[in-house]
Amino acid sequence: MTRKINIAIDGYSSCGKGTLAKALAKELDYIFIDSGSMYRAVTLFFIENKIDFESDVQVQKALQEISLNFVYEAERDRYEIYLNGLNVESEVRDLRVAQKVSHVAKISAVRRKLVEMQQEIGREKGVVMDGRDIGTVVFPNAELKIFMVASDDVRAERRYLEMLNAGKDVSFEEVKQNLKERDLIDSQRSDSPLMMTEDYRILDNTDLTPQEQFHLALNWAKFATEN
Ligand code: DC
Repeated sequence: MTRKINIAIDGYSSCGKGTLAKALAKELDYIFIDSGSMYRAVTLFFIENKIDFESDVQVQKALQEISLNFVYEAERDRYEIYLNGLNVESEVRDLRVAQKVSHVAKISAVRRKLVEMQQEIGREKGVVMDGRDIGTVVFPNAELKIFMVASDDVRAERRYLEMLNAGKDVSFEEVKQNLKERDLIDSQRSDSPLMMTEDYRILDNTDLTPQEQFHLALNWAKFATEN
């Protein structure tokens, strides 16, 4: 495989997009970018600075004060998100952020800023990015677009276990409710809603192991690279 491509992975919350994206990027020696962490970092800033999401003036001013970076952390072999120079990779996964992030992701000014950064990261190709609008808005010409789906219960259980393992104090019901709310807002917002177009390949991983989905997606990536 010589030609570098961009791979867009979109889908509902907790479908395993990140796990697949990470594995593909490692295998192909590409950069993996979790675009959701960017929306989460902006949300964290808004919460901590008590920004009123409804106020255009406050949002615009806050956006000018936000600087986001991805820094490679050798210890964990991945890029982690930094907000104004601080590593917030773990903090952005808190439930308090998850409960607000879909509201922040509806704001067009926020989306414009983040999409611009994401497109810059993908300019040289060789990027696997997961999110909600990567194949429709960020990289509409991505050589491979994957839309991931999984049953509600499987998704809620995965996210719940992930949060428990990270030492977060949450209940299964809280997590499931939050996923439902986010799915609804993410797919119904007016600016860049989550939607599947016909150029996506669908990957339903309800009954697939991470290994099985990885092999399926890797074959698609090989095909896209060679054609
Ligand atoms: O992938 P995630 O659950 O970490 O994403 C957090 C939120 O950010 C999600 O509810 C919707 C939003 N998001 C978005 O609107 N567009 C993206 N490209 C990525 C995430």
